[in-house]
Amino acid sequence: MKIKSWAEPYKIKMVELLKMTSPEERKAAIGKAGYNTFLLKSEDVYIDLLTDSGTSAMSDRQWAGMMFGDEAYAGSRNYYKLEEAVQSIYGYKYLVPTHQGRGAEHLLSQVMIKKGDIIPGNMYFTTTRLHQELAGGTFRDVIIDEAHDPDCEFPFKGNVDLNKLEDLVREFGAERIPYVSIATTVNMAGGQPVSMENLKALRAFTNKHGIKIIHDMTRVAENAWMIKQLEKGYKNKTTAEIVREICDLTDGATMSAKKDALVNIGGFLALNDYDVFEEARNLVVVYEGLHTYGGLAGRDMEAMAIGIRESVSDDHIHARVGQVHYLGNLLKKAGIPIVKPVGTHGVFIDAKAFLPHLSQDEFPAQSLAAELYLASGIRTMERGVVSAGRNKKTGAHNYPKLELVRLTIPRRVYTQAHMDVVTETVVELHKQREQITGLEMVYEPRYLRFFQARFKKKE
Ligand code: F0G
Repeated sequence: MKIKSWAEPYKIKMVELLKMTSPEERKAAIGKAGYNTFLLKSEDVYIDLLTDSGTSAMSDRQWAGMMFGDEAYAGSRNYYKLEEAVQSIYGYKYLVPTHQGRGAEHLLSQVMIKKGDIIPGNMYFTTTRLHQELAGGTFRDVIIDEAHDPDCEFPFKGNVDLNKLEDLVREFGAERIPYVSIATTVNMAGGQPVSMENLKALRAFTNKHGIKIIHDMTRVAENAWMIKQLEKGYKNKTTAEIVREICDLTDGATMSAKKDALVNIGGFLALNDYDVFEEARNLVVVYEGLHTYGGLAGRDMEAMAIGIRESVSDDHIHARVGQVHYLGNLLKKAGIPIVKPVGTHGVFIDAKAFLPHLSQDEFPAQSLAAELYLASGIRTMERGVVSAGRNKKTGAHNYPKLELVRLTIPRRVYTQAHMDVVTETVVELHKQREQITGLEMVYEPRYLRFFQARFKKKE
C-alpha cells in the first residue's frame, strides 16, 4: 500500500500562546499603525503571515546546538562548523558570515560593483536592488515576461530571458556587467522557481562573455524541490543533490539564512573567487564584525549550520512547500485571484483583480492587507507600488505590473487549521470587496518606504 497523504516530519514539543483580539481592538491597532501592517505590534496579531523571514520554528537539535555556542571573539568553533556546512552542502569555497542577507548584499555590492555598472537580475528584490544602487550600479530586470503575468501558469516563472540579457550585453558591453544576480526562488514574482535548464543556458552564456553569476540562494531548497517535482530528469534526485547542482552553476551567493536555513537570524556571503572573497573578508570587519562571526553570536552560527542540513531534507521540504500549496489550492478553488502557479514560500493575492475598482495610486494591495488584519487578525504584506518605491531619476512612483498581497508561511510554525482560518477570512472578505476603499500615503520614508510608510483611508 502507498499512502499519498503527507504530514509534517516532526511533532510539537512546545507551543507559543496567541492573543485573540476583538474587531474594535483591531480597528484601533491598524489605525495606530497608519494602515501599515509592518507597524502593528506583533502581540496584536493572531496568525502572522507577514514574512517567512526569521520566523521559523527551530528544531530541538538547533536549540540544543545553541548551548554549544563558543562566544570567543575570534575563531569560534561554530564558525568552522558553519564553514564546513556551507562547503559540503552548497559547495562554495569561501565563507563570510553576516548578520543577515542584506549584510551580504552590502559587502558584495561594494566589492563587485563600480559606478555605472549594470546588474541584470531575475526581477528585483528590495534590499538587493538598493545595495546595487548605493554602490553606483543600475539594476535591469531580465526575467521572462511570463513572470509579470499573475495568471500565466508557466512552471518556471523565475527563468531569465537570455534575449533580454543579450540585449544588455550588446548595449553596455560585458565589461560593465560584473555579474548577473539570480534568485532561487523569485520572491517578488510570487515565489517562482528557476529551472535547471535555464540556469545551465545562463551559465553557458555568461561563460562566453566572462560575466559572473551571483546567486541569491535565500530559498534554494524550495527551488530545488520544484525542480524535482517538475523538471525532466530530476524526479529521482534528492533535494540536496539538486541544491548542490544549482550552486555549482554559480560563482558565489548571498544568503538570508532566516528563510531556507531555519534560523531566526543569520546570513552569509559565499564565494568561489579568492580575490573577491579577500576583499569582502576585509570589508566585513568594518560593517558586520570580525570575519569569524560577522555580526552573529557563536550560538547563531551553530543553529545555522544545523538548520542548513535540515533544510535540504526531502521530508522537510515536502511538508514546507506542501503547506503553502494546501493554502494556495484552497484559495484557487474558491475563485480568489492569486498568482499562479502557487509559489513555494507564500500565496500571493492579485490585489488589482481582487479590488478592480481601485487604481494603483490608491494602493490596493496595502489596503487589502489592512482589511485582512481587520477581518480576523491575520497579518500579511504589500508587494506592489509601495514596495516598488520611486524612480531614481524622475521621482515618480514605480508602477509594478504585479500589485500583490503576500500571505507568507513561516516554516514549521502554523497548522493546517490555521490555513483554514486564513482561507475563510480571504473568501469572506472577497464577498465584500466592493466596500473596500483606497488609501492615501501621509508619511513616506526615503529608503525602503514600505517598512515605515503611513497611510489614511481615502475619503
Ligand atoms: N533576498 C531575498 C530573495 C529575500 O527574500 C530577502 C529577504 C533578502 C534577500 C534579504 O535578506 O532580510 O536577511 O536581510 N526577504 C524578507 C521577506 C525580508 O520578507 O521577503 P535579509
